[in-house]
Amino acid sequence: MDRPTAQFGGVVPSLSDLMETPSCPSWTVASPFDDSVGFATSLYRPGTSSALTPTEAALAPRGKSLHRRLAFDAGRNAAHRALEAVGVRGVSVGRTERGVPEWPSGVCGSITHTVNAAGCYAAAAAALNGVVAGIGIDLERIRPISLGVLRRISSDDEIEWALDSPEHGAHRALELFTAREALFKAFYPLYRRPMRYRETTLVWDDTRHLFKAATTLPGLSREPVDTEVTVNYSHGMVLAGVVVPRFVQI
Ligand SMILES: CC(C)(COP(=O)(O)OP(=O)(O)OC[C@H]1O[C@@H](n2cnc3c(N)ncnc32)[C@H](O)[C@@H]1OP(=O)(O)O)[C@@H](O)C(=O)NCCC(=O)NCCS
Repeated sequence: MDRPTAQFGGVVPSLSDLMETPSCPSWTVASPFDDSVGFATSLYRPGTSSALTPTEAALAPRGKSLHRRLAFDAGRNAAHRALEAVGVRGVSVGRTERGVPEWPSGVCGSITHTVNAAGCYAAAAAALNGVVAGIGIDLERIRPISLGVLRRISSDDEIEWALDSPEHGAHRALELFTAREALFKAFYPLYRRPMRYRETTLVWDDTRHLFKAATTLPGLSREPVDTEVTVNYSHGMVLAGVVVPRFVQI
């Protein structure tokens, strides 16, 4: 994996790049998944036309900032196209009172978005339930993660790995953070409660350029559930993605 060498936050597309794709441009990042998972991106700026279904429009966050509304629109737009990639069309992605996305029956998926100077970047992934049990993706602007936050979300071994590389330490801290957010989103709909960081161990595989994650799910699975979290950089952001395979539930 090429970890960017640019200063944190420094890599964003120029305005002229964006002007070439006015209505609902996507942006490019390698899909973290194989072809069984639909993956799509979108890029919204003020004025980009909304593509929400009436059901989604009724659930859209109200009274929030313009950025929040753009993020919601961009996320749902990416979700529709991720669903289309696995053959599911013309559906709505709902939202619980807690903000958890409600995917159509038989489908699981995940949505992420982040705002920077160029607009609201979103990505979504979706797959048929028969194929996988859960999906999580998380997109973060490249930015420093403080040692305090790193300590709150990481084990001693993970902190040692992050701090072991003067060149990549800051990126590694962000990768741990982003990987954990993706895992949280993948397991939450299965587990129905927030995970604690100690319930997952992350070990970087330098050959395959991904995290191997083992997640213990007390009350849900007797064995730890093994997953792989991929990490890709693009446009000054980092995207982590994870698929939870079907596993034997208690
Ligand atoms: C919910 C959370 C994961 C959202 O992540 P974020 O980086 O703030 O925001 P993102 O843009 O990446 O994701 C937002 C999307 O996540 C989805 N989402 C929200 N809550 C979710 C949940 N509980 N499970 C799965 N997906 C969720 C929604 O689709 C939302 O977008 P929408 O409101 O437009 O539909 C994050 O705020 C959070 O609570 N993290 C807790 C992490 C934690 O406790 N970890 C413990 C181990 S360290």
